[in-house]
Amino acid sequence: MTMKNIVAVAATIMNNQPKIDYEAFKLETLKAFPNLKLDQYDEEMIAYANEHKVPIIQLEGLAFLKQIVRLHKPQTILEIGSAIGFSASQMAKCSNAQIITIERDELMYQEALKNIEKQNLQNRINIHFKDALEAFDLVKDMRFDMLFIDAAKGQYRRFFEMYEPLLNEGGIIVTDNLTFHGLIFEEIKDRNLRQLVRKIKEYNAFLLENENYETSIFQIGDGISISIKKEGTK
Ligand SMILES: C[S@@+](CC[C@H](N)C(=O)[O-])C[C@H]1O[C@@H](n2cnc3c(N)ncnc32)[C@H](O)[C@@H]1O
Repeated sequence: MTMKNIVAVAATIMNNQPKIDYEAFKLETLKAFPNLKLDQYDEEMIAYANEHKVPIIQLEGLAFLKQIVRLHKPQTILEIGSAIGFSASQMAKCSNAQIITIERDELMYQEALKNIEKQNLQNRINIHFKDALEAFDLVKDMRFDMLFIDAAKGQYRRFFEMYEPLLNEGGIIVTDNLTFHGLIFEEIKDRNLRQLVRKIKEYNAFLLENENYETSIFQIGDGISISIKKEGTK
């Protein structure tokens, strides 16, 4: 990765990123993943994300995520980090799952709510406006077939440890952004960025070493892991 790219990513973290050309990216991605089947609502959400710099899942990662959902056929999914409800909508539309999604940013939450209702998915997706680190009580009596972790990257391990006891045996935990724009392979000069990258690397190691889970990390999209909860793990 070039210095220019590293600076661009650092700028992203400072909420000042240059616009991604989603149109060009989408055309390229759609060629490779025709089964994405984006509808008018998806297009609108992608346009909104581009306009307002909302970091929704990359389309390549999305194609992968949807195949995971189609293969695993979860009945229940818990998502940490809804943003505008894009990935939750996508998972709902390619499955029969009931989805709980948690978002701590009020603007994001309001936008997600609108998107869910617009698509008439309110019976399938239940969104909570709350910090996921304080939301355990909302879901503690539920059990999930899949967790999708896609929120503050520095907290991934805490999300994992907090919610994995609610995962059924054989269930899966999918985590996004594990290669973080390729930065985990780079030497980083900026101190804050370096700390964040270190946390992501530590999370990757934690996943791979966790004996209760069988984990693979794929360099797809922004880096996605699948961790399968082993039989006999409570
Ligand atoms: C990468 S975006 C999620 C993108 C979304 N999953 C998608 O692909 O459409 C991360 C979101 O997580 C939210 N978030 C970060 N930390 C959180 C936390 N502790 N609890 C709840 N939401 C959080 C952010 O506000 C942001 O909207």
